[in-house]
Amino acid sequence: MKKRVAVIGAGPSGLAQLRAFQSARAKGEDIPEVVCFEKQGNWGGLWNYSWRTGLDEYGEPVHCSMYRYLWTNGPKEGLEFADYSFEEHFGKQIASYPPRAVMVDYIEGRVKKAGVRPWIRFRHPVRLVKYNEAKGNFTLMAHDLVEDRMYEEEFDNVIVASGHFSTPNVPEYPGFGIYGGRVLHAHDFRDAMEFHDKDILLLGSSYSAEDIGSQCWKYGAKSVTVAYRNAPMGYDWPSNFHEVPALDHVDETTAYFIDGTSKKVDAIILCTGYKHHFPFLPDDLRLKTANRLAAADLYKGVVWVNNPKLFYLGMQDQWFTFNMFDAQAWWVRDAIMGKIALPTDKSVMLDDVKDRVAREDAGQDAHDAIHYQGDYVKELIAETDYPSFDVDGACEAFFEWKDHKKAGIMAFRDHAYKSVITGTMAPVHHTPWKDALEDSMESYLKN
Ligand SMILES: Cc1cc2nc3c(=O)[nH]c(=O)nc-3n(C[C@H](O)[C@H](O)[C@H](O)COP(=O)(O)OP(=O)(O)OC[C@H]3O[C@@H](n4cnc5c(N)ncnc54)[C@H](O)[C@@H]3O)c2cc1C
Ligand SMILES: NC(=O)c1ccc[n+]([C@@H]2O[C@H](COP(=O)([O-])OP(=O)(O)OC[C@H]3O[C@@H](n4cnc5c(N)ncnc54)[C@H](OP(=O)(O)O)[C@@H]3O)[C@@H](O)[C@H]2O)c1
Repeated sequence: MKKRVAVIGAGPSGLAQLRAFQSARAKGEDIPEVVCFEKQGNWGGLWNYSWRTGLDEYGEPVHCSMYRYLWTNGPKEGLEFADYSFEEHFGKQIASYPPRAVMVDYIEGRVKKAGVRPWIRFRHPVRLVKYNEAKGNFTLMAHDLVEDRMYEEEFDNVIVASGHFSTPNVPEYPGFGIYGGRVLHAHDFRDAMEFHDKDILLLGSSYSAEDIGSQCWKYGAKSVTVAYRNAPMGYDWPSNFHEVPALDHVDETTAYFIDGTSKKVDAIILCTGYKHHFPFLPDDLRLKTANRLAAADLYKGVVWVNNPKLFYLGMQDQWFTFNMFDAQAWWVRDAIMGKIALPTDKSVMLDDVKDRVAREDAGQDAHDAIHYQGDYVKELIAETDYPSFDVDGACEAFFEWKDHKKAGIMAFRDHAYKSVITGTMAPVHHTPWKDALEDSMESYLKN
């Protein structure tokens, strides 16, 4: 009997897993039967844009946290697949901060070429995974939404690749109940044009606050106010863009901050992050972790220490994304196929987790964090046949990116970087980001 492996989610992480198994098969290896369960009607995970918010047409929570006009917030040179370059996909080198539609095309390109779409059961949310102690395997219950049928199947391994930037963290502040404007979470933000000519308040001081604030500024918000809880982002913002200390409360029209200042605002966008949320996993299998680089309870960042037949992909906070998911997926494949031996002693796995946490905690700044995650990617790819690439070069692109943001937060996307996969320099995009209101793939590729 062939081993059976379930992959939950067909976003960038789950697709990396399918490509990892397919690449072993292409080399003549005998791979397990792989079944991928995907809740949405298409692949791409968060990158699969939906206009919907709240619940979808089947009553499922909408996964999409992306929005119109989203461009990558880091250089593509930091995430390029080592086995499928942007040049291979587009037939030429392209500029460094592609809009979402361009990224979807690239993500799809590799898996279309690999021919793994038939492995995916779309519109099949996983409802429950249970471990069968006696049989040493898992029972997975899925819901075929189209047929409206629940069924169970058994698997030897389960790989959770369901993402962790989709279930919003939604704090409440005094007065939200009487406030007259709209209060929404970043997860439900779709189109900056909605806030054209409006005074908006954003809570949070991380990537969503930065990017949604910048987006709204670009598309004509009257003013953008960002309230930070701990520290401001500190960029040199345009004159109608301000950072203020934390929100204290609101009344019908106005937000009051802890420094005693206030601002009348038309809408409040909670850019307050996301939760690791796995409603389909019981306590003995469910990851509970903060959003950090050394996720809790995962040996090598991927093996569930309490049951090493269960794996998680992409659960870390992310500087590296696609190439890190690849490094993890290739490693998990080899662990499942017996090419990498897992420790038989749980304490060895726990020590590995402890060591990762301590090393992350010893870092002083973002520079150290980027190196830390780069080293993790290197560590994993050294143990598999994933094509080795210049990870330090990708770190350099991230360092330059950070400097470019400091120099001009509304202009950092106008820079270009060198591919660490093909060695070629990206062209400078034909239009500065702040003026490029039209962001279709056709327009972006005109370089
Ligand atoms: C607003 C936003 C912008 C971002 N921008 C960038 C960027 O510019 N560059 C970058 O590199 N990264 C970016 N990211 C980070 C993003 O996390 C990764 O790029 C990537 O999408 C993570 O891939 P994933 O497969 O791990 O998770 P996801 O992309 O979240 O995919 C998970 C998949 O699992 C499916 N799923 C969930 N639950 C179930 C279930 N019970 N049963 C079946 N299927 C299920 C979902 O439908 C989804 O398709 C961004 C994230 C957000 C929120
Ligand atoms: N491509 C793009 O342009 C783009 C755009 C948006 C997001 N993203 C990605 O999406 C992911 C998630 O980013 P994120 O910014 O949503 O989440 P995040 O990085 O986890 O940041 C959450 C923010 O919310 C704040 N916060 C949490 N609880 C709060 C509360 N009760 N009151 C006030 N503030 C609170 C945090 O404040 P403290 O700092 O004080 O803890 C933090 O600033 C990242 O990987 C990012 O790269 C990408």
